[in-house]
Amino acid sequence: MQLITRVSELRGRLGDERSIVFVPTMGNLHEGHLQLMREGREYGDCVVASIFVNPLQFGPGEDFEQYPRTLDADCAKLQGLADVVFAPAVSEMYPVQQTIFVELPPIASDLCGAARPGHFRGMATVVLKLLNIVQPQVALFGKKDYQQLHLIRQLVLQLNLPVKIIGGETVRAHDGLALSSRNQYLSGAERAEAGFLYQTLQVMKQSLLQGARDFERLQQQAGSALADRGWLVDYVAIRNQSDLQPTGSQQWVILAAARLGKTRLLDNVEVDCVIQ
Ligand code: PAF
Repeated sequence: MQLITRVSELRGRLGDERSIVFVPTMGNLHEGHLQLMREGREYGDCVVASIFVNPLQFGPGEDFEQYPRTLDADCAKLQGLADVVFAPAVSEMYPVQQTIFVELPPIASDLCGAARPGHFRGMATVVLKLLNIVQPQVALFGKKDYQQLHLIRQLVLQLNLPVKIIGGETVRAHDGLALSSRNQYLSGAERAEAGFLYQTLQVMKQSLLQGARDFERLQQQAGSALADRGWLVDYVAIRNQSDLQPTGSQQWVILAAARLGKTRLLDNVEVDCVIQ
């Protein structure tokens, strides 16, 4: 495995590669990331992982400074899984002030975008830059960040980027908590509670599968169940898998974001239902 920090060196290294698979990350790797690397291996010969904490996607007062940076440990985990690790400095990714950004559709200001204005614009801009730098045939992103994955699919589709996007399944802890680098911000007591978010989504899923169709009520009940246990709920929403609009299809996704103390947790579950 080769660690590369410069764009020019990366381009030189990848110049002769015929099938490049790319897994962009912000580092502090956990089993969810490693699973994406393993899955990526099935799609091509050269697996490239990037590790870059992108300042553009953090808002004022968010955790850009505190975000865990663990490059040595990450590289150790990537041995045997990635062929190349691209870990640029901020000055390498943004050598001049970034004044050109990806303009996103209105859905980017809904759900997580409502609580984090500008987040998806910064995310999409860095993903476009990374795809241009690495030029992979395939790129993998976790389904845990469902709205992010949706926007990346639209970015690729609408800007004709020659890359196939694969969504990797969410990897969970024993109590259902979706793995995330931010889970380490949780105190012991918060960690013991954190699995309740997934359990709440599972209860909603069962209700939908059993025929419940009052979405407002289901969303409200789930929000109250979380709030009663001390969660600060950003949203619980049942949407179409395809466009994240309020339901109209037969394939739904229940998405939620809620805070436990200072930690904001995200999760979602897909539900395939036939509308009665
Ligand atoms: O999901 C992430 O880790 C980041 O948003 C990404 C896609 C690497 C862009 O910075």
